[in-house]
Amino acid sequence: MASHSVSPSRQLVLLVLMITILSCLQYVSVSAFEFQVGDSHGWVVPPANDTKIYNEWASENRFLVGDSIRFRYKKDSVMEVTEADYKICNSTHPNFFSNTGNTFFRFEHSGAFYFISGVSGHCEKGQRVIVKVMLPEESMTDSTGKSSGFRAAVTSFGLSKVVLSQFVMSYAVVASHVI
Ligand SMILES: *[C@@H]1O[C@H](CO)[C@@H](O)[C@H](O)[C@H]1NC(C)=O
Ligand SMILES: *[C@@H]1O[C@H](CO)[C@@H](O)[C@H](O)[C@H]1NC(C)=O
Repeated sequence: MASHSVSPSRQLVLLVLMITILSCLQYVSVSAFEFQVGDSHGWVVPPANDTKIYNEWASENRFLVGDSIRFRYKKDSVMEVTEADYKICNSTHPNFFSNTGNTFFRFEHSGAFYFISGVSGHCEKGQRVIVKVMLPEESMTDSTGKSSGFRAAVTSFGLSKVVLSQFVMSYAVVASHVI
């Protein structure tokens, strides 16, 4: 049986190789995105001839649970409100309020999130946005949105990562018996 035993140095090489591959995969893996609301426009009152900029921006993106958005603005505010309050721009009782100029909001669950400006008159002029947040498994079957290809690629990379690491694991187990 002595001829079947693994030499310590070979075992070490195998182990190091395995750890290297696994940690590389871990490093590349994308778990959450941070979106900047309105991209370079930031969070402002939209131009009068183009009031839908924020919902257009939202429909071009794919939001998953765990992702977050950042609002950048000057002398304004961000409120997260109910659908009913969003529709009539009622800012009297928000679920969330911030006026720091740099607001970070993380999506902890799926569903629609309604944001409005808390400054009088701004919401009515179109400074509001609906963000639809999906579970990762929902997003794989949905094909709307410009970034879906990218997100799908990331998601399937996530899946192949699991498959690949299982393969590496089982290879290592087999190899340690065979070498
Ligand atoms: C809105 O008006 C500006 C000029 O006032 C113009 O440059 C822009 O193209 C217009 N946008 C749309 C969507 O009509
Ligand atoms: C906004 O909501 C509050 C609380 O529900 C309500 O008292 C108020 O009448 C609402 N304002 C408008 C303009 O509907």
